[in-house]
Amino acid sequence: MGTGQPAKPEADHDKARIAWQTPEAAVAYRQSREPIRFKRYDREETIISDWLRDLGDGGLVLDIPCGTGRFIRSVTQRGLRYLGADVSCAMIGEARRAGQCPGVAGFLSAEAERIPLADEAVDCVILWRLLHHIREPGVRRAMLREAARVTRHKVLVSFNLPLGFTYLRKLCHRTLSGRSRGAGVVSHWRLKRETQQSGLRMVDTRSFKKYASINWFACLEKTAP
Ligand SMILES: C[S@@+](CC[C@H](N)C(=O)[O-])C[C@H]1O[C@@H](n2cnc3c(N)ncnc32)[C@H](O)[C@@H]1O
Repeated sequence: MGTGQPAKPEADHDKARIAWQTPEAAVAYRQSREPIRFKRYDREETIISDWLRDLGDGGLVLDIPCGTGRFIRSVTQRGLRYLGADVSCAMIGEARRAGQCPGVAGFLSAEAERIPLADEAVDCVILWRLLHHIREPGVRRAMLREAARVTRHKVLVSFNLPLGFTYLRKLCHRTLSGRSRGAGVVSHWRLKRETQQSGLRMVDTRSFKKYASINWFACLEKTAP
């Protein structure tokens, strides 16, 4: 018998799926990511732009999850085409409003674990600010495998590294406040292993500040079958 309460999400990937479903959450996310408020915006955009540099003109980039579409400009300004996808229709709605410009190929409602595109349909997949919400290695691998399947060339990911001052500070804060579970973190070595198991190889990694930053980024390339 139902309790009248919405079911509690069990796994982290369910929590990440549910967190941005409402129009209010989508607007709040867009506002928090406006370049003027989100100080790391420019630095993340520079990293993405560097890694997109060697894609040919007109190349197709899948941004999943696209969230409110903060990479639309970085992709289209380089002469590339942008395809956004997300599980949240509210987030896609915000991205669509931001994405009224030439170069935007469209938006899909899709899960990163099951991308409704043919093999090698795009030149690059951006998988940004999702993996760190996922503690289950099997789900992370499913996402990486799907990205590897649909790309012809690259996959760009962000991840949270546990070897830094920011992580230790957050861990102390969580422990002292009685919250035991934090964000999913993966070491370089673990991510490297998971990417290899998914048909990708890590060719470059960047961060804001080595040994201090929790936020890390990796450029992955598809390995020959
Ligand atoms: C922190 S936001 C990141 C959005 C964007 N990549 C960025 O950097 O701004 C997380 C997004 O992941 C989406 N999401 C959560 N689980 C997902 C899944 N399994 N497949 C696709 N999107 C998912 C959420 O709806 C939300 O828009």
